Amino acid sequence: MVIETTSAAQIQDGLARPRLVVGSHPRMDGFERASGRAKFAGDWKVPGMLYARMLTSTVPHGRIRAIDSANAASMPGVKAIITCLDDNPVWSAGEREHQRRVFADRVRFIGDIIGAIAATSRAEASEAVKAVAVEYEELPAALTIEDSRREGAPKIWDEGNTIGPLASGFGDLQAAFAGADFTYSAEYSTSRVVPAPLEPAVSLAWWDDDKVTLVAATQSIHPLREGLAQDLGIPMENVRVVTLYKGGGFGGKTAPMVHDFAAVLLAKKAGRPVMVEYSRLEDFIGVHGRWATVQHLRGAVKKGGDGGAKLLAVEMKAECDLGAYTRAVKVSNFVQGTEWYYDCDAWKGEVLGVYTNTPATGSMRAPVGPHSCFATESFVDEVAHALGVNPLKFRLINAATLHHRQADFTSNHLKDCLLAGAAAISWGKRWRPPTGVPREGEKNLSGLGVAIASWPARIGRGEAVLRLRLDGTLEVKVGLVDIGTGSKTMMAMIAGRTLGVPVEKVEVVWGDTDASPYSVGESGSRTTGFTGTAVRAAASQLKDKILLLAAGRLPVTSSAVLTLRDGAVFTNDGRKVSFKDLLESSGLEAIEEKAATEPTLPDRTERHSFAAHFAQVEVDQETGAIQVVRYVAVHDSGEIVNRLTAESQVQGGVIMGLGMALSERILVDRDMGVTQNPSFLSYRIPNNGNVPKVEAIFVEHADPYGPKSLGEIPAVPVPAAIGNAVFNATGVRMRKLPLMPEDLLRAMDSSLA
Ligand code: MOS
Repeated sequence: MVIETTSAAQIQDGLARPRLVVGSHPRMDGFERASGRAKFAGDWKVPGMLYARMLTSTVPHGRIRAIDSANAASMPGVKAIITCLDDNPVWSAGEREHQRRVFADRVRFIGDIIGAIAATSRAEASEAVKAVAVEYEELPAALTIEDSRREGAPKIWDEGNTIGPLASGFGDLQAAFAGADFTYSAEYSTSRVVPAPLEPAVSLAWWDDDKVTLVAATQSIHPLREGLAQDLGIPMENVRVVTLYKGGGFGGKTAPMVHDFAAVLLAKKAGRPVMVEYSRLEDFIGVHGRWATVQHLRGAVKKGGDGGAKLLAVEMKAECDLGAYTRAVKVSNFVQGTEWYYDCDAWKGEVLGVYTNTPATGSMRAPVGPHSCFATESFVDEVAHALGVNPLKFRLINAATLHHRQADFTSNHLKDCLLAGAAAISWGKRWRPPTGVPREGEKNLSGLGVAIASWPARIGRGEAVLRLRLDGTLEVKVGLVDIGTGSKTMMAMIAGRTLGVPVEKVEVVWGDTDASPYSVGESGSRTTGFTGTAVRAAASQLKDKILLLAAGRLPVTSSAVLTLRDGAVFTNDGRKVSFKDLLESSGLEAIEEKAATEPTLPDRTERHSFAAHFAQVEVDQETGAIQVVRYVAVHDSGEIVNRLTAESQVQGGVIMGLGMALSERILVDRDMGVTQNPSFLSYRIPNNGNVPKVEAIFVEHADPYGPKSLGEIPAVPVPAAIGNAVFNATGVRMRKLPLMPEDLLRAMDSSLA
């Protein structure tokens, strides 16, 4: 194992920071992934397997009157058909407020799934789907928030078209505004975006008697297993989920998905294995994206004597376009914001979720993060500008020290992140207040922007089984998937570091519910915190056992220090005994230790990761094109387990945020409800040509509960940091995502009027 002591401290001076011993190790499965040897769900072939295609709604809103599948059933190769008119289970994770069945007999968007057909080939299945005649009772559709909220609007759900308003808050808002000497308000909007992982949805299922095996492109094998067992009404032991490799998830593949059910149900009916594969179009429309929002913010400020300003209170009112279903978890209010990032005396949030006859929305990388941060951090930037306060200074004065003004954080180095990033991008030397457009003699206008973020770093249930073998290898059994985060490698490093076993000698057993204990799965930035804690605990137990054995072989005085290194126990007076010798002399084949951990936080304590991002942009005065030329992302995620994969997480998250900032938006036609751009040609994610080098800096302070979260937070502050940099370059404030060149040009033109 390569042990480094690299630290962000090298980049900044003046910030006191303890140096942690961090590791840096290439991901264990890098070769398999890069060489094409990794076996993704879609690569599986099992004897007799069938291929399935989904039958989807062609109207945005309606009831299914009849389905005639007789022709399809008689077509060559067709082995099983299931539709919404057959008995089919409730899909608990499919909708958070209402009951939703796997196949819909009341369709709510174009693409809603009403059935599936399995045949011996893909072509036969596709042909059979075309031969099904569906008779709809068409209902009027509401395709926008306005349509859905209108008096007499079509009812998308019998209980009504809205969720909420969901309220949150603390402090005395009125008093805070009364005591303010400056108030400000503005409205922001963000567009629907989708996870768009490289690997679309795939599920392959087969039954052996009462037990079903599902090879799934999922982020979370254990939650998928639990959810399937629950909704199918079968014991959990009768469900096995296998996911050896996953090509990105980003929130789109947590918990059971409709394609998982379809594979399982068709396999049962056909008595043969069935693989469901989504096309790229189906993955765009049929998974779920981040809801679009409109957020209105109003803030109260007290000016300081030192040229600074104190944020007293913020009120937020938001509306979200949830689509036909929302798969967001119930605890989420769809929009959060200022109270996460700043110390205010008072905060009030009111969020209305609005259903429309458009594709579903749900959790996507940092579910309530980037859109909320765009509004809050643009708003704060506007306030600072209006008051003539340097936006960095404003943040240093007001950045959150407490959670909601009430709870302590287990650790919080948000201000250090701001200082470190400012040093890296030379904010003090290079930041200038915006001067407006046009500027003669310059083609490109340059600007700097900053935005901060805060994201939960939860702790919770984890399990691990470790086995030290006679040959010196260490087996680590964990129920994770490794969707590209490098979690396998991290578990190997955590175990290896505790036991002094090089990563090369650690074998991780993962991705199979029958072979590995429970893990929360890769969602909510939780794997390192939850499962990593269990790995550490099991490794410590194993270490204790090794030391006990060693004590018999290496008589030492009470002042002696024993260290575990390179598969052996060393004394500080130069003697050693290898693990192999210890096991052999004790007549042991292996030593196994299990740990099941579920740490909790004390009352009035919250655990968050923090970030401060800095963007430098160039705006072409003639075309409005925005190029991000430099990006510095500073993170407080506590101790960094693996520097290399942590940097990858930051880079990937920033790139995702860059897409949301500059180009990504799902367009649904306002007349028909047809998704207009379900492809990588028309839905533009960033590519190599427009991705800047992303400099990742870690402010490394240990958190008492171990490494903090890092998977989601890098995507959160990006649109805001870029929007603020565009303002700094042009003097024009863009309040709508994505920041489209044509909108920016128009805004620059009207700023002259
Ligand atoms: Mo995620 S949205 O926690 O997969």
